[in-house]
Amino acid sequence: MNSGRDLFTFAVTESVEARAYITGRDFAGRPLLALPFSEDVRAVYQDLQITFWRDVRSRTNASPQLRAIILRQQQIDYSQGTKESLASYLGDCVAEAKAKGIDEISILELGCANGPTIRHMRNFFPEIKVRFFGIELTDFLVDNLLVRHPEARAIPGGVDEFLAMSAEDFGVQSFDLFLASGVLCQVPPDAAAKTLAHASRFCDQVLMWDYLLNMGGQISDSDPIIFKLAEDSQHILFLNPYEKMLRDAGFTQIDVTPTAVSSTTQGPGEGSVRARKPSTVD
Ligand SMILES: C[S@@+](CC[C@H](N)C(=O)[O-])C[C@H]1O[C@@H](n2cnc3c(N)ncnc32)[C@H](O)[C@@H]1O
Repeated sequence: MNSGRDLFTFAVTESVEARAYITGRDFAGRPLLALPFSEDVRAVYQDLQITFWRDVRSRTNASPQLRAIILRQQQIDYSQGTKESLASYLGDCVAEAKAKGIDEISILELGCANGPTIRHMRNFFPEIKVRFFGIELTDFLVDNLLVRHPEARAIPGGVDEFLAMSAEDFGVQSFDLFLASGVLCQVPPDAAAKTLAHASRFCDQVLMWDYLLNMGGQISDSDPIIFKLAEDSQHILFLNPYEKMLRDAGFTQIDVTPTAVSSTTQGPGEGSVRARKPSTVD
């Protein structure tokens, strides 16, 4: 909770307001705001984030032009730019599987877009069979994924739908990896923690790319922290305390690879995390 800090009300968008206090600024001078009131966090999450990803960009609401732009934005491969460390962790997983004589990797991905993970695996490790189950809030990206990769499974949905899913829904008891790239920053800490706890029921390993500036709870591990990548952006991102969430979910062997900062267009603490249950580490 806010302990005597200077609270102010700001218009997150034209329709969503939140009470906040400033905790500091990141390397690019962006203010890092704490939201001490849960109803404001809920409003940002439900009325802004979910509406943006699920509704504004949906099959029915997004124009063909907008859908084409979104698909173009999805063309970048993990091996280029800030997600290189994610590509490298995927490479480590493949190398470890091969060392054990295994030629298949199963991946459960939240926020799978139109399948950049499958595409990366096909391009870089065509000898590895990928068993894939994806969940994605933007429905037309799911359509596109299934057209490009008919062997994969993918459904429209987000954290709420994921939390309600069981092994029966996935059609299998477990996956090798839970992957979330640029996704947990879209959700507030309570939802991110529940997501990782739920993922630990099916997966012994997590790969994520995210904004890690508050990874250890150094900014706050109680009040949710938000920032905007650009001042004029309508989009909000969360800086979540992932280390505690991962440990609480049983992923106690944690490796982090920060992205080198080369531009102020990067967000605070970009980087990748590989987190494993101790039983999976040789
Ligand atoms: C920046 S995109 C990243 C897409 C892809 N994972 C990648 O790395 O290119 C953010 C993703 O977060 C997902 N997302 C946003 N809010 C979400 C929520 N509440 N639950 C699950 N996924 C969410 C979006 O659907 C979108 O796929």
